[in-house]
Amino acid sequence: MSHQSFDVAVIGAGAAGMMTAITAARRGRRVVVLDHSKKLGTKIRISGGGRCNFTNLYASPQNYLSENPHFCKSALKQYPQTAFIDWVRENAIPFHEKKLGQLFCDRSAQDIVDMLFGTANKAGVTVANPVSVNAINAHASGFELRTDKGAVICESLVIATGGLSIPKSGATDFGYRIARQFELPLVSTRAGLVPFTYEGSLKARCKALSGVSVDATVTSGAGNFREGLLFTHRGLSGPSILQISSYWREKQDVLVNLMPDTDATDWLLGMKRTTPRRSLKAVLSESLPNRLVDMLTSEFIRDGRLADMSDKALRSAGSFLNGWCTRPSGTEGYRTAEVTMGGVSTSALSSKTMGVKSVPGLFFVGEVVDVTGHLGGYNFQWAWSSGYVAGCAA
Ligand code: FDA
Repeated sequence: MSHQSFDVAVIGAGAAGMMTAITAARRGRRVVVLDHSKKLGTKIRISGGGRCNFTNLYASPQNYLSENPHFCKSALKQYPQTAFIDWVRENAIPFHEKKLGQLFCDRSAQDIVDMLFGTANKAGVTVANPVSVNAINAHASGFELRTDKGAVICESLVIATGGLSIPKSGATDFGYRIARQFELPLVSTRAGLVPFTYEGSLKARCKALSGVSVDATVTSGAGNFREGLLFTHRGLSGPSILQISSYWREKQDVLVNLMPDTDATDWLLGMKRTTPRRSLKAVLSESLPNRLVDMLTSEFIRDGRLADMSDKALRSAGSFLNGWCTRPSGTEGYRTAEVTMGGVSTSALSSKTMGVKSVPGLFFVGEVVDVTGHLGGYNFQWAWSSGYVAGCAA
């Protein structure tokens, strides 16, 4: 690949990079994609439990976190979920809505990988891997990349190297280093869509309940989500916890409502009137898994015959059930996080093109940018939308 010249070089052959490359090549640009991984498409392949939740029917700017919540609007408007769904249909990839607008492949995530790499191939994109990019130099008319396979010269350079999540999949801090090289502001990074860990007695309780799941509403900071909550060996997980983790900051509490459809105090006082001989434990077991009820009544809520319990005690039990206050000691970190929050500050970029305002020809797309979606196909949609708009301009 010694001293090859292209119109566009994309670093990172993930969802965002491939989308950029395809879009630019369809405009007639000569495009190369460089990736350091031996095997490409890993993150797509492992996504959505192997079925890739590739977008969401209801994707909108409200589903994204960023220092500038308006930034994602332009790209999502230029390339909405309907555009990607049309493309999936054109490729005859069977898919279904699992829940809450989340679209998954019927067969396997490999269908999306094949669609991206097959289309790129047809559009004339050169994909080169494994290639390590050792240095990037900006010139008046473009960029020179020094790689372990020779030099690449390009007019436009697109950084699509993703975030820090799942290092095993090939994640690196490359994009942030390039941002620093060009003196672009960075928003500090942290793991998002990630399970919580606890220490001490709460960790032991979670461990004892490992595998138990409940429908719960969880609240922390400005976030509030109702979905499944799962006890694990190390703490709490499940969709509601992954969602709230993106809003949680260290030393903040997480409020768990174990009976989101019920005012638990009213319900318990009513049960005391109508079924006074029953035990609190028996009553709770109607709504919650037995193992959880055992833990709650041995650790947090006093059990007894309802008739023998004071209204005050039932009120306190009800408050607990509707607002169990827990403080995570941390998260499982990038090892298991689905996304990296923060990244290249949107203040440095044009929302219309993802181009760096201060460096003509340089673009950042996908997860490396400070735009993070909720759980449910929103992160891939950001990769498609941001990649598309960059591909139109690069
Ligand atoms: P991505 O990380 O996909 O790609 C970056 C590419 O850059 C990789 O190919 C990497 O090898 C390459 N690279 C990195 N450093 C490099 C370097 N120094 N030199 C050259 N190349 C380099 N989202 C969603 O919407 N629906 C879902 O179902 C899921 N499921 C899911 C499951 C799991 C387990 C994870 C970890 C994540 C998800 N996600 C998800 C999130 C989604 O996978 C993620 O947001 C996108 O893949 C981000 O796409 P990017 O292209 O920006 O980065």
